[in-house]
Amino acid sequence: MPNLKPLRLVAPVLAALLSMPFGASAQPARALSATVTIRADRPGAEINPDIFGQFAEHLGHGIYEGIWVGKDSSIPNTDGYRNDVLAALKDLHVPVIRWPGGCFADEYHWRDGVGPAAQRPITVNTNWGGVPETNAFGTNEFLDFAEMIGAKAYVNGNLGTGSPEEMADWLKYMTSDQDTTLTRMRRDNGRDRPWKIPFFAIGNEAWGCGGDMRPEYYADLFRRYATFLKAPKGARPLIIASGGHDADTSWTKVLMSTIHQNMGAISYHYYTLPSPTHDWQAKGPATGFGEDQWASTLVNALKIDDYIKQNIAIMNKYDPQKKIGFFVDEWGTWYDPEPGRNPGFLYQQNTLRDAVVAAATLNIFEKHAARVRMANIAQMVNVLQAMILTDGPKMLLTPTYHVFHMYIPFQGATLLPTDLKTPNYKFEKFSVPAVSVSAARTAGGAIEVSLVNLDPDRPAQVSATIKGAAPRHVSGTILTASAMDAHNTFDDPNALHPVTFDGAKIVNGRLDVALPPKSVVVLSLQ
Ligand code: AHR
Repeated sequence: MPNLKPLRLVAPVLAALLSMPFGASAQPARALSATVTIRADRPGAEINPDIFGQFAEHLGHGIYEGIWVGKDSSIPNTDGYRNDVLAALKDLHVPVIRWPGGCFADEYHWRDGVGPAAQRPITVNTNWGGVPETNAFGTNEFLDFAEMIGAKAYVNGNLGTGSPEEMADWLKYMTSDQDTTLTRMRRDNGRDRPWKIPFFAIGNEAWGCGGDMRPEYYADLFRRYATFLKAPKGARPLIIASGGHDADTSWTKVLMSTIHQNMGAISYHYYTLPSPTHDWQAKGPATGFGEDQWASTLVNALKIDDYIKQNIAIMNKYDPQKKIGFFVDEWGTWYDPEPGRNPGFLYQQNTLRDAVVAAATLNIFEKHAARVRMANIAQMVNVLQAMILTDGPKMLLTPTYHVFHMYIPFQGATLLPTDLKTPNYKFEKFSVPAVSVSAARTAGGAIEVSLVNLDPDRPAQVSATIKGAAPRHVSGTILTASAMDAHNTFDDPNALHPVTFDGAKIVNGRLDVALPPKSVVVLSLQ
């Protein structure tokens, strides 16, 4: 992990253990207790590494300044990509990146972003702040970037304002191995051999910014566009259809019932707002919130579990063999714009609350690993629930970054089903299960267990029985702090980071864990 000060092992954990509900006096809050059975004897699906994927859109400082500063920048860079961000992303083992949008994708014409930078047209980013788009970062820059950090490329095509021909040409430009005008153009632009494009989507949010369509109309367009998406044998991407969002399952139903070929996955979007009524005009702030917004945010975040289940139930009816994936290719927290910043840039701070949302959501994706085979958090740098924030030459890693880093061992591991019995964490009218868990076996044979305590006040004593395995040694890391909105700043970029966790032990084959309030713990059992 880049730029971390020496680990401060004890202080944050102790501080969290000792944190008390507001107004409490001398006694520490009484621990709640939960039990888990981990079924190592009943391994489930592979946890596809791609559920730890990311989304990078031309939005605010997500690309420009966040990833790309240009070769002439005073910010240290390699061929225009900032070195600090490259190093942090490499260290995160990012499996896949979705680009160029989002809403931006349906107004993006790929030819604007290839060729000599000085000759590229300057367009307007109509969705995000109405600012000029230089097109300095285009197809070659994105695909080279993905290769540099070892991530797969997921390219989102323009259905809304493009044509089947434009979309088909883009795929040929990227993947063709024949000598054609398009591949000569690619070579003239600095790339001789084709890139690998494992994933390609036809449009984004077709129900909204992607064209305000009905699912029936979109399904017909998908069939038409997908017909003309051609690539050399073995190089055709998995084609993704633009699906539904939130509680709306109508898109999944229509797509599954009317598309009979070419559809490798359905895309789905869900954002977590603190607002209990999902009010987009008053979502709630990223920092400085009270326990009511801690609790309402978690209630909203966990709703994705039921939404996924409802979509999967429909997919199972049409595709019991689970050939088609359900890709949550936009998810994360979305708060009110930060005062003094361009509201169209969607820049927000990222706190311990985001870390807890991330961990609990990843646990949900892992539970549905057989169908949820990709997810892309929105977004990678400087936008929404970002991994990384930058300010000129400065960079910080967010609590969400740290959670993704802690979860690296889950990439490609085999899900071990869990049976969790936990009390609820309650605050005013809000109530959620206090503990969230996921378990998996790695290729090396270790059992990884992630545990989240959603209660900001009470520690949780978790007792886990492991069926079918008898580990003897446990080690782990924890991310926690005493404040609900603890976060890193450019003046103190390592205020919050994972430290070694010594609150877990194995007693007579049982795993006992003392989880501090508002914490994320990942354990490795051997
Ligand atoms: O991630 C920001 C925006 O949210 C995306 O552009 C769009 O697809 C979604 O509505």
